[in-house]
Amino acid sequence: MTATTGAYRAAYEASAANPEAFWMNAAEAIDWITDPTSALDDSGAPVYRWFPGAELNTCFNAVDRHVLAGRGDQTAVIYDSAMTGVKDRFTYSELLDEVKAFAGVLVDQGVTKGDRVIIYLPMIPQAIIAMLACARIGAVHSVVFGGFAANELAVRIDDATPTVLVTASGGLEPGRTVEYLPMVAEALSLSKGSIHTVIVKERRNVPGTIKTYNGVNDVTWLDWDDAAAKVTPADCVPVLATDPLYVLYTSGTTGKPKGIMRDNGGHAVALTWSMANIYNIKPGEVMWAASDVGWVVGHSYIVYAPLLAGATTVIYEGKPVGTPDAGAFWRIVDEYKVRALFTAPTALRAIRRVDPELKELARYDVTSMHTLFMAGERLDTETLEWASEGLKIPVVDHWWQTETGWAITANLRGIETLPIKPGSSTVPVPGYKVEVVDGKGNHVAAGEEGNIVIKLPMPPGTLAGLWGRPDGYQKAYLEAFPGYYATGDSGYLDEDGYVFVMGRTDDVINVAGHRLSTGQLEEALAHHPDVAECAVIGVKDELKGQRASGFVTLKAGVDRNHDEICTELVKLVRDKVGPVAAFRDVLVLERLPKTRSGKILRKTMRQIVDGEDFVVPPTIEDISVLEDLTVALVGNPEPMKPA
Ligand code: COA
Ligand code: AMP
Repeated sequence: MTATTGAYRAAYEASAANPEAFWMNAAEAIDWITDPTSALDDSGAPVYRWFPGAELNTCFNAVDRHVLAGRGDQTAVIYDSAMTGVKDRFTYSELLDEVKAFAGVLVDQGVTKGDRVIIYLPMIPQAIIAMLACARIGAVHSVVFGGFAANELAVRIDDATPTVLVTASGGLEPGRTVEYLPMVAEALSLSKGSIHTVIVKERRNVPGTIKTYNGVNDVTWLDWDDAAAKVTPADCVPVLATDPLYVLYTSGTTGKPKGIMRDNGGHAVALTWSMANIYNIKPGEVMWAASDVGWVVGHSYIVYAPLLAGATTVIYEGKPVGTPDAGAFWRIVDEYKVRALFTAPTALRAIRRVDPELKELARYDVTSMHTLFMAGERLDTETLEWASEGLKIPVVDHWWQTETGWAITANLRGIETLPIKPGSSTVPVPGYKVEVVDGKGNHVAAGEEGNIVIKLPMPPGTLAGLWGRPDGYQKAYLEAFPGYYATGDSGYLDEDGYVFVMGRTDDVINVAGHRLSTGQLEEALAHHPDVAECAVIGVKDELKGQRASGFVTLKAGVDRNHDEICTELVKLVRDKVGPVAAFRDVLVLERLPKTRSGKILRKTMRQIVDGEDFVVPPTIEDISVLEDLTVALVGNPEPMKPA
C-alpha cells in the first residue's frame, strides 16, 4: 500500500504492531503521580480510554516540572500584540506564579475538580493562565472564541453548566474595539443561570469595567488583578488520566454545537510526542501557532503542547496583514527566532494578496524557521508553491480536527521528512489507521474518492466523548461505519499511502479556517419574521476558502424591498452567530429547489454557484425552480433534464 520505507514507516509499523508498547513508551515523557500500568482500556469499546487508573496533573507537566528541573528562567510565553504594541515575556517561574495565583482565585470562588469554567478571552496571556489554572485544580475549561456573539456564548454556557466565567474588558480587531462585557451580560441573561461569578481582566486599551456590571444578572463580577493580588496560591490537584481536561465546542451538522471532551493523560502523552516527532521542537525552542486560543489549534499548539515539551510559545494578537502590514508574520519569526510556524492557508492567501512578491520578507531574518506547518482547511497548490518558493523551507500540510486534537496525517519532521505532494497532507501519523470507504463501508481503490474513516481505536489525545451526551459520540461518529470513526471528510489515498483530503461530506463549512455549520446559520436566518424558508451553502472563496451564501423565500404577503430584508438578514446572523461567520451574501428567491420529499437541493445549489458540472437529481420536485435559480446566479441556463 505504501512506497515509504524509512524511519517513518518503521515508526508507523511499530505503532500498529504493538500500540500498547508504543504508547507506554511515549508515556515515559510525562511525570505521573500514579504511573500507568497499561495504555489502552478497551472495556468500553467502541469508546476507548487511555492509561486507565493512572494519575497526573496536566498543569504540573506543562509548568511546574520545568521549574523544578531548573529551567525556571527560560521563557515560556511570549506575548506580542500588534494591536496595542505591547510585548511581554513570562519565564516558566513567572508563569507558575501567575497560574498558581489565578488557580487560587478559582478555588476562592468555590471551583473544584470536575467543575466547568468558561473562558471568553481575547489573545492575551491571561487566556493561557486561565486554562492552566483550571487544569491545575482539575476544573474543566471551555474556551469560547471571541468572534462568537452572545447567543453562541449562552448556548455553550447552558450546555457546559459552568459556575464561573473568565473574561476581559474586550478584544481588538482592526478598526474596532470588541467590548466583551455587554456581550457577557447579554449571554448571562439569555442563559439558564448556572454562573455565579464573572472574573474580568480589565485591559488598559479597552474600555469596560466591572463597576458598571456588579449585581447585574445576580452575578458577582470580580476584577482579575484585585482578586489575584490577595489570594492563597493553589497547588496541583491529582486527576485521573481519563478525567476531562477541557470541553471545546465545534460545529456539527445541526445548529447545536458539539462539546468535544478531551482527557488529561492521553492528551499530555500525545501532544508531547507530537512536539518531538511531528514538529521537531526541542525544549527551549520557539513554536508559534498563529491561530486563536478559541480553536483547537490554539488549545493544542499555543497552549498545551509547547509548554508540555518545555518549549517557548508565542501568543500573538494581530492579523497576518494590516497590523500594520504583510510583514507581520516575518517580524514575529525574526524577533523571537521562531523555529516552527503553524498557520492556516487563508492567512497565507491574505499575505499573498497584499504582497505577492514577498517584498516584506526581505526586511527580516527568518532563517530560524525550519518548517511552515499548515492546517485548518485544504492547502491549495498555488499557495503551497508560492510559500515554498518564497520561504525556501518545507511547507508541511497536515490534517486534523477539533475531535482528534492533533494531526491525523502529517509529514513528520522529527522522524523523517517525506517528499511533499501538492494537495496531500502526507501520511497517517503513527496511531491513526486511515482508510477510505464508499457509502456502504466498502474499501475503494487507491486514487478513488470516498469517505475518510479511521479504524478504531484512535490514538491517545483524541476525543473522549461529547459533553453531556452519553451516546452522542457513538451516534455522531461511530455508527455510520462500524469499527471506524467517521471523519466527515472525503478524499482519497494514493498508491504511496499519501492522504488527499478534498472536503466535507456533511453540512460543515470552513470559512477562513473557521469551522461553521450551515444549520447554525440557517437557524439564525429563520428568526427573521419575513422568512418562510432558507438554505445556507458554503461556496468557493478565493481568500477564505469558502464563504457562507444564504438563500431565503419570504412568507406570503411580504412585499418589502428585498435589499432591506437582505441587510437585516446579514445583521441578524452577525448578532446571533457573530462576526466570525463573515456572512454577507444572501438572496431572496421565489422558491428553493427541492426533491419531491421536500429536501432542499443544497449540493446542486452549491455546484451551480461554484460553476461545477452537476446532475439534476431524478427526485427533483420542479425543474423550473432550478432553472430560475441558475438565471438568478449565473445567467444563461442550459436546458435541464433530470438524470
Ligand atoms: N473577536 C471578534 N471579532 C472577530 C474575531 C475575534 N476574535 N476574529 C475575527 N473577528 C471578526 C473580524 O474582525 C471580521 O469582522 P468584520 O466583519 O467586522 O470585518 C469577521 O470576524 C470575519 O473575520 P475573518 O473571517 O477572520 O476575516 P478578517 O478579514 O478579519 O481576516 C484573515 C482574514 C485571513 C486574515 C483571518 O481570517 C485569519 O488570519 N485567518 C486564519 C484563521 C486561523 O488561524 N484559523 C485557525 C486554524 S489554524
Ligand atoms: P476544525 O475542527 O475546526 O479543526 O476543522 C476540521 C476540518 O477542517 C476537517 O474536518 C477538514 O474538513 C478541515 N481541515 C483541517 N485541516 C485540513 C487540511 N490540512 N486539509 C484539508 N482539510 C483540512
